[in-house]
Amino acid sequence: MAEDLYIQQGTKEEQYQALIPQIKGLLEGETDEIANLANIAAALKEQFGWFWVGFYLVKGDELVLGPFQGPVACTRIRIGRGVCGTSWKEASTLIVPDVEQFPGHIACSSLSKSEIVVPFFRDGKVVGVLDVDSDQLNQFDTTDQQYLEEILQLLSA
Ligand code: SME
Repeated sequence: MAEDLYIQQGTKEEQYQALIPQIKGLLEGETDEIANLANIAAALKEQFGWFWVGFYLVKGDELVLGPFQGPVACTRIRIGRGVCGTSWKEASTLIVPDVEQFPGHIACSSLSKSEIVVPFFRDGKVVGVLDVDSDQLNQFDTTDQQYLEEILQLLSA
């Protein structure tokens, strides 16, 4: 079960299409959310080599750092704060091509240049967000949005 993921080269779309069945396989039969989030973060980091990939989980009126891959990060984010807190508040995906242009962006690292944040839901409520940071500007687009949203839907399947 824990065999190495096959890392396919190709377009971003081809890479997601190769990765999604493997993520499905990893989640199959495992109900522990932390274990599943940890494997999703690792699979995405391995496949795409992004600077930081991880989860923040809703706890009361804050997001608290969950499983991630990459440098150490801020541990708590209030609702409406930064990209993550805004994505939570608006219950929608945010694509930020240049973090310096996002009012209130929380800089956990000065190396992070662009970002996508995707919320995930249980019973219609946001229970956490996936945050992906790149050290390149303009790294994320609606292709990432589409596939990352699809991956997070696997969590509630
Ligand atoms: N930049 C995020 C904070 C999380 S770190 O980048 C890992 C934000 O503005 O919400």
